[in-house]
This record gives sequence, C-alpha cells and structure tokens, in this order.
Amino acid sequence: MTTELDRLRDQALADIDDASSLAALDEKRVALLGKKGVITAQLKQLGALAPDQRKAEGARINAVKTEIAEAIAQRKQTLEALALERRLEEESVDVTLPGRGRRPGAAHPITQTRERIERLFVHNGFEVVHGPEIEDDYHNFEALNVPPDHPARAMQDTFYVDGARLLLRTHTSPVQIRTMESRQPPIRVIAPGRVYRCDSDRTHSPMFHQVEALYVAERVSFAELRAELQSFLEAFFDTELKLRFRPSYFPFTEPSAEVDIDGRSLGTGSGWMEVLGCGMVHPRVLEAAGIDGERYTGYAIGMGVERLAMLRHGVTDLRQFYENDLRFLSQFV
Ligand code: FA5
Ligand code: MG
Repeated sequence: MTTELDRLRDQALADIDDASSLAALDEKRVALLGKKGVITAQLKQLGALAPDQRKAEGARINAVKTEIAEAIAQRKQTLEALALERRLEEESVDVTLPGRGRRPGAAHPITQTRERIERLFVHNGFEVVHGPEIEDDYHNFEALNVPPDHPARAMQDTFYVDGARLLLRTHTSPVQIRTMESRQPPIRVIAPGRVYRCDSDRTHSPMFHQVEALYVAERVSFAELRAELQSFLEAFFDTELKLRFRPSYFPFTEPSAEVDIDGRSLGTGSGWMEVLGCGMVHPRVLEAAGIDGERYTGYAIGMGVERLAMLRHGVTDLRQFYENDLRFLSQFV
C-alpha cells in the first residue's frame, strides 16, 4: 500500500538526486528536514494519533527521515567531488603548451643602419664626431657659402626656432664647419645625426638621419672621393654595385654630385633612388672655417640613412620606420 509518506519519500529522493548544486541541495534539505520542513511536519502530526499507532508511525517517519538524511549526505559528497574536479580542471596547467617566451629586443632599424655606416667608416680610418641639432644660421648656411637670400636656401625647407637666428639643422654639413673650426688637417671624420626639414612623402620625412663624411688633407682628389664611396657602398650592401654619379649643385662643394642607386640591381627597389650628395669642399668654405684653401683640399659626403636602410631592406615607404608598428619593426631583429 502506498501511503502519503511513501510518496513524500519518493519525491524527496528524486529531488535530492536532481539537485545540481550544493546550494540547491541545501535548499532541499531545509525544505525537508528543517524546522518547517515537510518531514518535521509529519513528526509533529504524530501527537494526533492513538498511542498504539503513534509508535509504529513514528518509527516509519524516522526511518524515512534517516533515509533522506543519508541521501542528502551522499548527494553532497557527489556534488563536492564534482566541484573539486571542475576546479582542478580550470586551474590545471598544461605543461605541454608552448611557452609565451621572451622575444629578443633589437635596436631600431635606423639605428642599426647608422651603426653599420659608422662601423664601415671607422674601419676606413674615420673618427665619429657630433654637432648640435639646434643650429645657428651661420653654421647651417652662411659658413657653407649660403648667404641670406641665396636661392639655395629654398632647396631645404627650414624649421626656425628663434626668429631667424636659430633653426633645426637641415643637414649634417654644419658639423663640417664646427670640426674645421676646432682642428687642422688632416681631418677624417664622420658626423651622424638627426636633421629636420619641412618635408613628407614616401621618400621624405620631416625628421630623418644623415651621416656626413669629411676628409681634408693635402692633395685630396675627386677620384679618392669616388673610390671611398664605391668601397663604402659595396661593403654596406655587401655586393658589387653600379652607382650613378649625377652632376649636381651645392654651394659648399665644387664640383658637386649626387649618387643614385638602382634598387632593381639589389632586388629591393623599383628604380633609381638618390642616397647622397657629395663634392670637393669649396675653397671659400675651407677659408671661412680657418683652413688654408691653397694648401689643403677635401671632399665631403652627406648621405641619407633612411634611404640606405630602404634599399638594404626593400622598404618602399620611409614613413614606416616611424610608425612604431611592431609587425614591421620585428622584422629587423
Ligand atoms: C644635403 O643635405 C647636403 N648637405 C649633402 C652634401 C654633403 C653635399 C656634403 C655635398 C657635400 P640633400 O638635400 O640632397 O643634400 O640631402 C642628402 C641626402 O639626404 C639625400 O640624398 C637623401 O638621401 C637624404 N634626404 C634628403 N631629404 C630627405 C628627407 N626629407 N627624408 C629622408 N631623406 C632625405
Ligand atoms: Mg639631394
């Protein structure tokens, strides 16, 4: 015979089995065995029964109560085990996964290029010197044979700092003047550094780098300039090179030339690109810096570091060097 108590018991055991979390199970426990729980209510009703029935019914209810309590304890154990398992799974470390690793850092490609240029010139007996980035008009222009109102000033769009007296140097050539002012030939130096011009496109940046080379001694010739450039550029690109010496004009050199390199011959570019200007130092420049122009001659070179880096690495837009995109930069590690 199925009694009310049997139904209650079956329902209770099914509910306990269904409890999917420790919180749900505890709610169930309170609903069944708590002070106001259904089993407790059953026990409270015993008082209404005749004394001979009370004993048997009490025993039955207590048996069910024990059975339910055990079922709860067992379900609790199961749920606790599940929870632990889940936690272990979440917190587990898969030691077979590849590590995050540490990627090696590296100098910026322009720094790498500048250092390569320096190394090659130092190897050929040049000394590295530096000059200020904020220059005065005299060293940047006048002493280089570019008087005020000279049309050559329009060749380089200048950032002025303080009226017309101070400016951001537009090239590294003022370091030639500062060097010759402070020493006598033989002079064999290079001057690397930042320069600034109001300029921006695929091959022009408002801030870029040049390396100036200056050699002043007795009987320095244009042939030596050509030989030095050929040797430097072939070492820099690590290959034989066909250079294009294009006659050009700079007020501070005479004769003057610009050198172009064919990117196609290096497999990195699509055509001729100008990489540097050069020439024999103008006697007027030597004299302005306090050097005897009758006795000494010299050559000077001003090369574009970004342009050399572009040709070496096949970069087609120089502005990429300054966007700080790690996908670009990490190629130069
Ligand atoms: C000069 O700046 C001369 N001072 C070079 C010189 C030195 C001639 C000594 C004679 C004797 P030029 O303006 O052409 O010349 O610039 C030299 C090189 O700098 C160029 O060949 C090019 O490689 C690079 N260059 C010039 N402008 C930019 C720019 N805006 N961005 C990147 N590179 C540039
Ligand atoms: Mg030029």
